[in-house]
Amino acid sequence: MTKKNQTLGEFIIENQSSFQYSSGELSKLINAIRLAAKVVNHEVNKAGLVDILGAAGDTNVQGEDQQKLDVFANEKFIKTLTKREIVCGIASEEEDSFISINSSDEKHQNKYVVLIDPLDGSSNVDVNVSVGTIFSIYRRVTPVGTPVTIDDFLQPGNKQVAAGYVVYGTSTMLVYTTGDGVNGFTLNPALGTFYLSHPKMQFPVDGKIYSVNEGNYVHFLQGVKDYIKYCQKEEGDRPYTSRYIGSLVSDFHRNMIKGGIYMYPKSSVTQNGKLRLLYECNPMAFIAEQANGLAVGGKNRIMDIEPKELHQRVPFFCGSRNMVEKLQEFLNKYH
Ligand code: AHG
Ligand code: MN
Ligand code: MN
Repeated sequence: MTKKNQTLGEFIIENQSSFQYSSGELSKLINAIRLAAKVVNHEVNKAGLVDILGAAGDTNVQGEDQQKLDVFANEKFIKTLTKREIVCGIASEEEDSFISINSSDEKHQNKYVVLIDPLDGSSNVDVNVSVGTIFSIYRRVTPVGTPVTIDDFLQPGNKQVAAGYVVYGTSTMLVYTTGDGVNGFTLNPALGTFYLSHPKMQFPVDGKIYSVNEGNYVHFLQGVKDYIKYCQKEEGDRPYTSRYIGSLVSDFHRNMIKGGIYMYPKSSVTQNGKLRLLYECNPMAFIAEQANGLAVGGKNRIMDIEPKELHQRVPFFCGSRNMVEKLQEFLNKYH
């Protein structure tokens, strides 16, 4: 049962029995993410006050500059999940390969692996614009009691047990699904408590917002170009409004509330787009579908893609059902 103003802690306990494999382990895991999110939130909030802005000087495995808060968020989530001994493995955008975690007393007894984008939209930190965290949770496929392998992480999105995001925005929200709808919790910063503020979130079936980096327009496939022109056309309820923050989490969150489509297509310069399948697209796709939206890579459903590598990139189109289907009509004309 979802009661407005329920705390996230109360909600997790009350809904534990509705998880498919209820043992309390997943509840503990979501609790740990809640805790780490609060710590990261605190750090993000004071980013303008302390000398924490700017690149840390490192580049991650994909050759991108790491911001200091990327490093902080990465360490905080990994430490929280590792110290509490509630997962058997973690993969992160900021780590070249996955981390295997041993439980100190009974070795390797935990069932879940977590994949995480610790700080999404990190280039927005310097300019005081919303950033986020994205997480995806699977049951391991290798036997409990053995170290995790890459197979535990390379699972299609349709095998996700839970997924969610935190948006560090004008208020901080944690939004997640365990496969039974999507619920959003807003942090009361005075109390440090998340409250259920957005029960059973749903994408409006139709929308009027399109979100895409139009600076890349000339490099897009003809189908995407045509769809963008369709969005801009003066006809019926169009032209639509263009909104692009440059933080997937924030763009997605707005579109889920107001109705819209998010697009990161492949182009003549980025063959697979930019977004990472395992810790950006799959979790957002799970949330989108649970909220009556759609998430596709073209013709195919994002969550049916068989992953080949940890940091794999895929084209990503996600949002209100009718908008995504209309986009697919345009894509299908050329393939
Ligand atoms: P991250 O900060 O985790 O690397 O992710 C940035 C992503 C995503 O949040 C955003 O939607 C997209 O990059 C923006 O890319 P462009 O600047 O190419 O539009
Ligand atoms: Mn990201
Ligand atoms: Mn990131």
